[in-house]
Amino acid sequence: MAERARIAVFISGAGTNMAALLYASRMPECPYELVLVASNDPAAAGLKLAEAEGIATFALSHKGMTREAHDAAMEAAAKEAGAEYIVLAGYMRILSAGFAARWAGRMLNIHPSLLPKYKGLDTHARAIAAGESHGGASVHLVTSELDAGEVLAQIAVPITPGETAESLAARVKLAEHQLYPRALADYVSRWRNPAWLLAQVRSLALALPETSEQESFGAAGFRVGTGKAGKYFAYFADRHHGHQGIALLVKTSGPDELAALVEDRPEAYFRPAFYGASGWVGIVLDRRDLDWQDIAAWLRRSWRSAAPKRLTRLMDVAEQF
Ligand code: GRF
Repeated sequence: MAERARIAVFISGAGTNMAALLYASRMPECPYELVLVASNDPAAAGLKLAEAEGIATFALSHKGMTREAHDAAMEAAAKEAGAEYIVLAGYMRILSAGFAARWAGRMLNIHPSLLPKYKGLDTHARAIAAGESHGGASVHLVTSELDAGEVLAQIAVPITPGETAESLAARVKLAEHQLYPRALADYVSRWRNPAWLLAQVRSLALALPETSEQESFGAAGFRVGTGKAGKYFAYFADRHHGHQGIALLVKTSGPDELAALVEDRPEAYFRPAFYGASGWVGIVLDRRDLDWQDIAAWLRRSWRSAAPKRLTRLMDVAEQF
C-alpha cells in the first residue's frame, strides 16, 4: 500500500470525531493514519480510546502555562510523532498565531455550523434562535483567525420542530462523523487528484500576462498571445499517451536539456510522446513532495519562450526592479 499521511489529532473532550477518524483510518485504502492523539486535558475520554487502539498519546494541561509555551509543547509532541498534519477535533483552545502560521495548509478543524455562519461557541442555539432551516458542520483549514480559514467540506442537517441545542448537536455530530474522515482523506490525497492539480496549474498559468486556456486534443492547454498569433506554452495531461501519471508539459531549451532532466530525475521528468523532439518535457505532477514553486518557475520559463517580444521586453523591465 502507498505511504499514508501521518496525522496528529488534538482533542479536549469526548473525542468522538477522533474516534470516527480513527476507525475510518482502519478501512482499506484510507490515505491517512493516526500517529498521535494529544490533549490539553489529561482526563479527556478520547485518550483512553486512543491508547486502547495502540495509538501514541500525549496529554499536557494548559493550566499555569502561557499559550505559547503550551502550544510549543503540543507542537513538539506532534513533530516527535512525525505528524504531517494536525487535525483539531473538539480542541477547545485558541492557537497562538505563530503555531497556526507554521502549520498553514497542514492544520484542519471541524466546526459545528455552516461557516461562515455562526463562528465561535453556542452555534446550535444561535442557529435555532435565528430561525434557520438547517444547522450543520464545516471542515476548514486553520488560520490564526478563529473559524475563518478556507472551508474544505460541509454537511447540512435540518432543524426540526421543537429542536433544542442539545438535540441538534447530537444529530450534527452523527453528520460530523461522516464528514470529517471523508474531508481529511480527500485533503491528504489532493496531490493525486486530477481536478485539484489542474486547478493549481490553471491558476499559475493564467496569472501570467496575456494568457488563455484552450483545449488541445483533449488536454487542457495554456496559450500566450492573442488569437492566431498565440502559442501554447503548457499542457496539462492526465495519463499522457501511455504515461502513468498526471503531468505538465512545458518547453525546455531543447533536446539536450530534456535528455539531461530525464536522465537525472526519471521519477520527475519524462520525454512526452510526440512533443519530445521539440524539447518539451513532461513533469510528473502527482508526487507527494511536488514543489509548486518549481512548477511556477517552469511555467514562467515556458511562457517566456513562447511569448511575443513585446511581452517579454515588459517582463525584463519589470524584473529589473
Ligand atoms: C464537535 O461538535 C466539533 O464540531 C466541535 O467540538 C465537538 C467535538 O466533539 N469543534 P467530540 O469531542 O469530537 O465528540
